[in-house]
Amino acid sequence: MSDARKQRAGEAAAGRVEAGMVIGLGTGSTAAWFVKALAARKLPDLRCVPTSEKTADLARELGLTLSTLDDTPRIDLTVDGTDEVGPGLALIKGGGAALLREKLVWEASARCIVIAEAAKVVKTLGAFPLPIEVVAFGHKTTGNRIADVLADHDIALPARLRQADRGIVRTDGGNVIYDATCGAIMDPVRLADDLKLITGVVEHGLFLDLADEAIIGKDDGVDLLTP
Ligand code: 5RP
Repeated sequence: MSDARKQRAGEAAAGRVEAGMVIGLGTGSTAAWFVKALAARKLPDLRCVPTSEKTADLARELGLTLSTLDDTPRIDLTVDGTDEVGPGLALIKGGGAALLREKLVWEASARCIVIAEAAKVVKTLGAFPLPIEVVAFGHKTTGNRIADVLADHDIALPARLRQADRGIVRTDGGNVIYDATCGAIMDPVRLADDLKLITGVVEHGLFLDLADEAIIGKDDGVDLLTP
């Protein structure tokens, strides 16, 4: 993974921000480059809605003015990273476990720019395990229901509960994450719909019809993609 490519994408996205805007701040290492480049521009009257506690900490440290989704429900522009960029700018997100807050902020935004390094662009979504955020209560039961839905989509492997060195990973909202190794997601719209119907699933990492533009960082510049 190239940091220079991520930095190029983040800096290009920061160039799109204008004074007085309400900006959604994504989560992850690429989004962090955007946050740093945005803070360096010192634009007046910006208000920023972070999508995670980690991004909030970084933005605060850099002197950006923070707001909440409830205080600023209309966001002008959100810039966020991604785990995969597929055809039509369909995305898999949630590698950083911030998918729920990210999707809430994206859906409240007039415009969304996804930033990524070139290696994240794929022909078919699914090589990156699809994160699924699940309520902690009874999560094993919900995990079994997720496995049934995946099997219905010809995905044989059950989703795996995300663990870290310190135990089960918890999201900022206190939920857990199941990662589904899909291989290839042939019908992302149907899979998204089917996962949302499971009681206990709070959100999944398929971001469909949400990105307006992608800024892809390369070794020698950036590519701009539209749906
Ligand atoms: C967090 C995300 C991130 O944007 C995604 O995981 C990409 O992270 P990075 O820029 O570090 O590769 O969706 O939930």
